Amino acid sequence: MTDSDTDTELRVSKIENGTVIDHIPGGQALNVLAILDIDGSGGEEVSVGMNVPSNRLGRKDVVKVEDRELSGAEVDVLSLIAPHATINIVRDYAVSEKLRVSRPERVVGVLSCPNANCISTAGEPVDSTFDVLDDGVRCGYCDTIVREDIAALIDPA
Ligand code: CTP
Ligand code: ZN
Repeated sequence: MTDSDTDTELRVSKIENGTVIDHIPGGQALNVLAILDIDGSGGEEVSVGMNVPSNRLGRKDVVKVEDRELSGAEVDVLSLIAPHATINIVRDYAVSEKLRVSRPERVVGVLSCPNANCISTAGEPVDSTFDVLDDGVRCGYCDTIVREDIAALIDPA
């Protein structure tokens, strides 16, 4: 039985064209929206399911965005907080592509270092760089390692 066989999945209706990000860890949907830079002000048509039952994850979040496909950089950051997410590209109501996220070795320019003394946060014209570890990310400038709440480092830019 797949997740969508559960009637709870029907709480969030199907979309016509766009992207369904499925199998997000329960409670991370708002961080996923932050990664996609969606706060409602842009008028995007978005449906969110939070903590819905999942056979695979126990509880999962689902984000559905109409008329939007994700950039490579967005998928890279997404992989940090939702390593088992499935990205479904929907065209004319059917899933036309199903992609699994993969973890990049490094993310550049998308996270900001929490170390106030780090050169990357000192207003210098350098792009933040983080190496992706098995259990977190490490700043390429000051070696600070962050394991919890990586989404809080996402640059609001
Ligand atoms: N979906 C949607 N709108 C569509 C088609 C699919 O919102 N027009 C959603 C489904 O509700 C599901 C996801 O996209 O959350 C993937 O759809 P599908 O591949 O049909 O489901 P599963 O087989 O359960 O996928 P998986 O094996 O990845 O769990
Ligand atoms: Zn740093």
